[in-house]
Amino acid sequence: MSKPKVFITRRIPDAGLKMLYEECEVDLWDEDLPPSKEQLLEHVPGVDGIVSLLSDPIDAEVIQAAGENLKVISNYAVGFNNIDVQTATQRKIAVGNTPGVLTDATADFAFALMMSAGRRVVEAEKYAREGKWKTWGPSTLLGVDFAGATLGIIGFGRIGKAMARRALGFGMRILIYTPTAQPPAGVIKVNLETLYQESDFISIHTPLTDETRNLINADAFAKMKTTAVLVNTARGEIVDQEALYDALKNHKIFAAGIDVTVPEPLPPDHPLFELDNLIICPHIASASTTTRENMAVIAAGNLLAGLRKERLPYSVNPEIYNS
Ligand code: DGY
Repeated sequence: MSKPKVFITRRIPDAGLKMLYEECEVDLWDEDLPPSKEQLLEHVPGVDGIVSLLSDPIDAEVIQAAGENLKVISNYAVGFNNIDVQTATQRKIAVGNTPGVLTDATADFAFALMMSAGRRVVEAEKYAREGKWKTWGPSTLLGVDFAGATLGIIGFGRIGKAMARRALGFGMRILIYTPTAQPPAGVIKVNLETLYQESDFISIHTPLTDETRNLINADAFAKMKTTAVLVNTARGEIVDQEALYDALKNHKIFAAGIDVTVPEPLPPDHPLFELDNLIICPHIASASTTTRENMAVIAAGNLLAGLRKERLPYSVNPEIYNS
């Protein structure tokens, strides 16, 4: 019997790739940069499954181009805003993601960004390296304190909760904004306005949806403390970047650390790169070796289940199994 055909849009760690090569006829996009939309459209016709990355727009056009055989789209990420899930669901195509295994790595990185921005680590390293370090100074590169400070967490899913666990260990007070979750002991659920007004640090851990797009806008910045530090490891589109630039440039907030931007990659001549009180990282919050391997195994497992018409272990659209 012929093997199912799959298109993998980038080389994922071997642990997952091996599983796919064993059972499938693989078309692997083995370039450093992602396939363009045109290249995606060229590679998907006739495939049974696609392993995609967050940089690949798997929209209605791509799904349509894949044709009738397409049974499963397995995203190598927990976020899946790059996929038109509605179209996939209408066509009973299973969509999978990789939750859980990247929770700690992502929360670790959000915490690292929060501390680095609050204590000006990147700015200080540059200062030392550039020969500006002439003496120990009582007011050189002053930052903000963590112990006793308030952390506002927007979105209280797995990663938001992991962030809270870390912050409790640092003696921080935790506020959360979440439409759904009940707060565990030691965490206070508030509305957004209160979170903006009372937080010394704000960390975003919500998916990108129509409701969260540009959630952190000029109005939100106006309500924050001038000493506040903002951290975004979720999706760039949740923060209005022009408003962020204005807030940092005009010291409406103290600092920010962002791992996600619009667009990605952010062009090197983008105005945000001018700001010393902003740390910009290239979307690496889940980038630890073990995490990425585990993501590959989950993505491969999802794909293989979908090809067999079995329920995906990590399904984004389980409603396709209802009928
Ligand atoms: C995700 O998984 O959605 C992250 O953004 C990358 O790991």
